[in-house]
Amino acid sequence: MSPLPVRFAASQAPPADVEADWLVLGVPQEKGPAAALDQRLGGQLTRLREAGDLTGKLLELVTVLNPSGIVAKRLLLVGLGPIARRTRASVHDALAAALRSITGRKFGRVAVVIPDSGESLDQTAAVLGAGVGAVQGCFGPGLRKAEPSRFAPDEIVLVGEPIPQALLDRVRAEAAAVTLARELVNSPPCDLYPETFAARAAQVPTSVEVEVWDEARLEAERMGAILGVARGAARPPRLVILRYRNTGSTPTLALVGKGVTFDSGGLSLKTSEQMADMKGDMAGAAAVFAAVRAAAELGLKVNLLGVLPLVENMPGGRAMKLGDVLVARNGKTIEVLNTDAEGRLILADALAYAAEQKPAQIIDLATLTGSCMVALGTEIAGLMANDDAWAGRVRAAATRAGERAWPLPMDSDFEEMLKSKVADLKNVPPSRYGGAIAGGKLLEQFVAGVPWVHLDVAGPAWADREAPTRDAGGTGAFVRTLIELAANYRG
Ligand code: BES
Ligand code: MN
Ligand code: ZN
Repeated sequence: MSPLPVRFAASQAPPADVEADWLVLGVPQEKGPAAALDQRLGGQLTRLREAGDLTGKLLELVTVLNPSGIVAKRLLLVGLGPIARRTRASVHDALAAALRSITGRKFGRVAVVIPDSGESLDQTAAVLGAGVGAVQGCFGPGLRKAEPSRFAPDEIVLVGEPIPQALLDRVRAEAAAVTLARELVNSPPCDLYPETFAARAAQVPTSVEVEVWDEARLEAERMGAILGVARGAARPPRLVILRYRNTGSTPTLALVGKGVTFDSGGLSLKTSEQMADMKGDMAGAAAVFAAVRAAAELGLKVNLLGVLPLVENMPGGRAMKLGDVLVARNGKTIEVLNTDAEGRLILADALAYAAEQKPAQIIDLATLTGSCMVALGTEIAGLMANDDAWAGRVRAAATRAGERAWPLPMDSDFEEMLKSKVADLKNVPPSRYGGAIAGGKLLEQFVAGVPWVHLDVAGPAWADREAPTRDAGGTGAFVRTLIELAANYRG
């Protein structure tokens, strides 16, 4: 396990006096409150404003090399946008863009001035936005490059109001969790497959109990859907169960993540173009693993059950065929009419198992459908649920964490479309319209009425191309939301 190679520190010194290779300062679109710093810089910020070179527009970057009057060697000004629209997401994006612009070279210490909270932001959100956002800008997908292209600084100093130790710990753990999820998603599928993923998932603090089920155990436990999907692959499947209990009381939150370490489509083979990024089809499992780890590191007062079904979806002489019928953990039979709709199959077993453990709620994360990206684009997750109150809580947590999810309807007429002539269910409906909802409706059949939310993260979990705020590849989507849920969980 690579621990986060960045140290965090906090400083209450005036920004002008902080010793650092870079001082990163957020600039509001309205004339800023950085008067003290401006004075030390001999009015340079004012002059930049007057010349129109510094506007504070969100993500605007202005570099001042060799600033005179302050202790830091270099100054990076990043636009924060209008104060009224300041959110955890805008602070996160601004600091991510700022750090991303300077981490092409190695520096020892980068100081980040925590932006003022503005109208709608509390200190927790401002500090998490700045700290976790900054770390996002420090890592890229170049795991296997001979010459690294991105260099995380040794230390990030968060400058501003005193930060409670628990909050500083959370910044560190949350940044590490997002980085871990991204790294797992970016790992090539020759390295990361069910057995190796399971081995990594076993590297958790001792407060987490880990079980790894191999094929024989999956057979004994009647996990027919996971075994069905895995049949075409040379790599055997695994099911990882993580239990973290840290309250005397009973309610447990169950987190389930789709872990297809490579999705070729199986016999319903994808094209090369569709397949190219399918090492990322385990992003849901990576997010769940990373979040459980962070919760344990932080000793959060919560009971978590993490369930990670891990498979490769491959064509092969023994692969499941169209027309095959699988018997899932809860006894329901599923006719397979498209082997590329494999995520819902492995989740059927995993959700049924999670529901049996009688959690208070379930949330699953899955890169489940291309349809969800057609509906909501690449940045917003589809949120499907069997319980409005629980859906509302998950949405609220996502918003606080600066992530976006939008509800899709779960009308019962979709159930008709999933009826099979030969089995209880079929894994795909006859029409491709409403494909994200059809996926959600199939999953609903396996949660046994437990309050449940399904997040289809096919869009947000993976970035096709780089942007000012992030590198291409795994994004670590919804790790922050899961930690936010766990941190404020009250049953
Ligand atoms: N892993 C894919 C979904 C996906 C597509 C994720 C693009 C990220 C980017 C999933 O297993 C899949 O193949 N879904 C099919 C379902 C269809 C066969 C009903 C899809 O979306 O085409
Ligand atoms: Mn698929
Ligand atoms: Zn898939």
